[in-house]
Amino acid sequence: MDTRQKLIQALSDGRFHSGEMLAETCGISRTAVWKHLCQIKTQFAIEIFSVRGKGYQLAVPLELLDPVRIREEISSAALAKVSALEIKDQIDSTNSYLMALAPGEIDSGHVVLAEQQTAGRGRQGKFWVSPYGNNIYLSIFWRFSLDLAGISGLSLAAGVVVAKTLNQLGIVDIGLKWPNDILWQNRKLAGLLIEVSGEHGGPTNIVLGLGLNSRIGSSDGNAIGQPWTDLTMVSEGQLISRNLLAAKLIEALIEGLSGFQHNGFASLVQDWNRYDLHQGKLVSLQVGAQRIAGVHRGVEKNGALLLEVDGKTNAFYGGELSLRLAE
Ligand code: BTN
Repeated sequence: MDTRQKLIQALSDGRFHSGEMLAETCGISRTAVWKHLCQIKTQFAIEIFSVRGKGYQLAVPLELLDPVRIREEISSAALAKVSALEIKDQIDSTNSYLMALAPGEIDSGHVVLAEQQTAGRGRQGKFWVSPYGNNIYLSIFWRFSLDLAGISGLSLAAGVVVAKTLNQLGIVDIGLKWPNDILWQNRKLAGLLIEVSGEHGGPTNIVLGLGLNSRIGSSDGNAIGQPWTDLTMVSEGQLISRNLLAAKLIEALIEGLSGFQHNGFASLVQDWNRYDLHQGKLVSLQVGAQRIAGVHRGVEKNGALLLEVDGKTNAFYGGELSLRLAE
């Protein structure tokens, strides 16, 4: 842990800490504490109050990611499938990081979490708002002995896994929007970005990225270009431990990825249908520059969206498609 991380850790409880006490904890002078805190404010965009006679306080308490606690909360069966667990303080994107590693350098079950992403990526080239210390930014590498067609439906399967995990943690009213948005009362709570690389005919390497909003401040919220929510709103202040949340998501996704090799998405179609918020409704689908209006008729076992247009049902696949309730 470097000095900046030590300071953030010391302040993470959200209480006031004197400059003297922080200096002693980190083995530096009070002036150095002040300088580091100024840097922290700029580098991580963390709001820190400074009050004469009281010391320093974080505007919002943080539960920092702790690899020991996370490992403790993952079932031993799933933990056996975790080949590495890395926690980054600040990174451009956890997905980009894993995608940049050569396939020979990593094994299935390589997990990366970050406190902050400076270039978090969403689907369709969008930016994923990733402030420090509050949300889940998680990526997992997996190698399938399947070709590209064999992994179709994977992102839908992952959506079901995340929705079920949130339910198990006591969060209700979770719904899914094809292909991989996790919504709460029609507001985006989490999203999945699956990136693929591999040779024709397999094996296929994937990086599964999950971003889940735990606490988004109002200024970060303004940067999200769609209706959004976070777990603070969903659970009315009764925040679930961030480390427990990370652990349970890793556990479920690792087991889901491992099961997908044999079962694909077919065994999860019924679960998907239970969570799908738009089935039977009139929707409009953006395919490139084209917008297609039709009735959402469910999904196929390869994950394709079935859209009924003028009495005829067509299958649409993932990629650059987006779905909105028609006005
Ligand atoms: C979406 O657009 O809904 C997908 C969002 C995916 C965001 C996650 S955060 C962790 C991982 N790293 C990234 O850069 N993106 C994904």
